[in-house]
Amino acid sequence: MRKPLIAGNWKMNTDSQSAAALARSISDQSPGYGAVDLLVCPPYCYLKTVSAVLAGGTVLLGAQDMFHEANGAFTGEISAAMLKDCGATHVILGHSERRHILGETDQAVNKKTLAAHQAGLIPIVCVGELLSEREAGQTAQVIRRQFDGSLAGLSAELMAATVIAYEPVWAIGTGKVATPQQAEEVHADLRKLIAERYNAATADRVRILYGGSVKPDNAAELLGQSDVDGALVGGASLKADDFLAIAAAGTLLAGDDVTRPQNA
Ligand code: PGA
Repeated sequence: MRKPLIAGNWKMNTDSQSAAALARSISDQSPGYGAVDLLVCPPYCYLKTVSAVLAGGTVLLGAQDMFHEANGAFTGEISAAMLKDCGATHVILGHSERRHILGETDQAVNKKTLAAHQAGLIPIVCVGELLSEREAGQTAQVIRRQFDGSLAGLSAELMAATVIAYEPVWAIGTGKVATPQQAEEVHADLRKLIAERYNAATADRVRILYGGSVKPDNAAELLGQSDVDGALVGGASLKADDFLAIAAAGTLLAGDDVTRPQNA
């Protein structure tokens, strides 16, 4: 069975003090959530601070992007090795804000995905359709194109180690969440696609997260879908209680007999 992954994308939020406090609060309470993997992704400049706070615990650390080159004259960019050096084990790639605000292409995401694996970082590769694409009935086509473009060239072993996040663009930061059926339909299609491109065993191993306005009150239903293996959480990951309430939904689903926190 795939272990659920609950990942917090802090985006361009927090400062050194609040980042450390948020990480501390999550880490202190994490022992109750052993049935899920917890991951936090702060801004680059707080990775080391957060890494120090998380040291010795089980909460994982990730970054929100990286460049595909190992080093050199790439002003403003950061490499996979640098992220590892700061304590990161994961990296979010191809987030819709990078694709749509910063013009990142599937090809760029693909280079980053390969470079992340080469450096030993686990990539969380995001895909998702625009509202106009959904309304035009193009969701499956867009997701398949992004999958093939962003994840080209991976061996079955590296594919199995990759995390995919389905994040409908219209649901990110908008409070409009996909229905559990809408999420499951895309997740199941992604798994079918992995089976087509690789094989059923590989498809069975890949964790596919849902992202887009995941909150404590909708997490259980989303995470209850058979092909939804966790959540990539933006806004609600900035409050430890909300993030952990979402993790609690995942924990219950994973069948662990844990005490549900008061706020969940
Ligand atoms: P949101 O963001 O939870 O604030 O909608 C999700 C994301 O962008 O990963």
